[in-house]
Amino acid sequence: MRTTISVIKADIGGAPGHATCNQKLIEEAEKNLKKAKIIEDFYVTHCGDDLQLIMIHKKGVDNKKIHELAWNTFMKCTNISKKEKFYGAGQDLLKDTFSGNVRGLGPGIAEMEFEERKSDPVLVFMADKTEAGAWNLPLFKMFADPFNTAGLVIDPKMHEGFVFEVLDTRNGKKVKLKTPEEMYDLLALIGSPNRYVVREVHSKSGEIAAVTSTQKLSQMAGRYVGKDDPVCIVRAQSGFPAVGEVLEPFTFPFLVAGWMRGSHNGPFMPVPLKYAKCTRFDGPPRVACLGLQIANSKITAVEDMFDDVGFEKAREQANEIANYIRNHGPFQPHRLPDEEMEYTTLPQVLKKLKNRFK
Ligand code: F6R
Ligand code: MG
Ligand code: MG
Repeated sequence: MRTTISVIKADIGGAPGHATCNQKLIEEAEKNLKKAKIIEDFYVTHCGDDLQLIMIHKKGVDNKKIHELAWNTFMKCTNISKKEKFYGAGQDLLKDTFSGNVRGLGPGIAEMEFEERKSDPVLVFMADKTEAGAWNLPLFKMFADPFNTAGLVIDPKMHEGFVFEVLDTRNGKKVKLKTPEEMYDLLALIGSPNRYVVREVHSKSGEIAAVTSTQKLSQMAGRYVGKDDPVCIVRAQSGFPAVGEVLEPFTFPFLVAGWMRGSHNGPFMPVPLKYAKCTRFDGPPRVACLGLQIANSKITAVEDMFDDVGFEKAREQANEIANYIRNHGPFQPHRLPDEEMEYTTLPQVLKKLKNRFK
């Protein structure tokens, strides 16, 4: 039996400011998805100011009706956002009308279709205040680093390694690289997460293992409208990394680009959903994770995976790093390098000074 999981997300208005997504929007989205006949099951949540629609169905990836359902749901929620004057109402909906696929219209999407196994644990990661390449480091650790994933060494089903598909966001070209054989080539690319983004990971036999949303919002819009705030779906167990191996990379609050005004590096803080709101300096960048069990295209269990003492140290460390890096104020490397500031409002400020250079 083939099942598809589609995670489609958009920032269609925050309250207050860009901090979080109001409950009214979540309820409206739930109401809308409940009525839909084309999906088998769903879960609505948020990470920061991004509304997350997790839909389980049998229609495969890039299905027009599923994308239309997500689009119409975002539109309905935007009406509430506008009425309540939530901040940036409809922000990520870059076009007025739907045209067959939400890709390129603003929302972020990660979708995968798979043949259901005896049991299917699936982890859905959701980030706020960062860019699409934020998943590069953790995906590398999960699927290619034996110091993270014991199964790469111990489990004969994983010992062969995995294949990473990397997207060059500057030209839309993709390349597939095998690990462990081409691990160094892979790192040569994905160590630049602002340009190269891991789009997909699969087993050597072609089974889908992980998929990310790779939309670069600023490139789509041609201006800064907020960071990509990406999502990522990872399958676990029985030949894929164990749930704990999938979560392990997030014990290290590595630095990601985003945070205040999409212009600063900061620690990626793993949080339970109750803390999935961006407060300090509009952040720090956050990652939440829902653990799902899928059976017969239904969600049979949902867990808030970072709601655990096991991640308290990472949060503490993230707060320490936040203090340290914030002390740099407007200086790099807290502020992003010049080429990454192109899509922000900084060029407008610099333009004024142009004629004063003698
Ligand atoms: C980051 C983000 C916020 C805003 C900031 C300024 O992705 O969306 O940090 O950039 O709050 O917002 P404006 O310019 O709308 O006042
Ligand atoms: Mg926002
Ligand atoms: Mg956001």
